[in-house]
Amino acid sequence: MNVETQKVISFIEKHDNQKNALISILQDIQAEFNYLPKEALQSVSKTLELPLIHIIGVATFYRSFSLEPRGEHQATVCMGTACHVRGGPKILEEFERRLEVESGCTTEDGQFTLETVACLGCCAIGPVVVIDDDYHAQTSIRKVESIIKKYRKN
Ligand code: FES
Repeated sequence: MNVETQKVISFIEKHDNQKNALISILQDIQAEFNYLPKEALQSVSKTLELPLIHIIGVATFYRSFSLEPRGEHQATVCMGTACHVRGGPKILEEFERRLEVESGCTTEDGQFTLETVACLGCCAIGPVVVIDDDYHAQTSIRKVESIIKKYRKN
């Protein structure tokens, strides 16, 4: 059994091998690997005796789970109406240009995953960009470079 499988088994055991703890187990796996590796889901399926298709269904239903490897940092640009009218699309373009990646994708160096969201619920401080858990208020095209710099490893 490799180290990754051992980790997955330990997450399942932490939740007493309970089928109804599936979401918590997936959260643990996501936190450990930054995504849900297929082999990990297969281990969960086997150990909990749940069909893999069911687990994948749960994993794809919740936005916080990813079946693809994610970047070290999650960059989310708000495209809700309030942020949109204040320049959200231009800010997204600037992120795409500087990170050389399209929205929904991860940079080649694995540092950033760029995504959009419909509304973050803090429209008054828009346009808003969130990197990991940090909210960047009243963002502009000019601020994009310094925001990226703050997180990027050279
Ligand atoms: S529209 Fe961006 S926070 Fe609501």
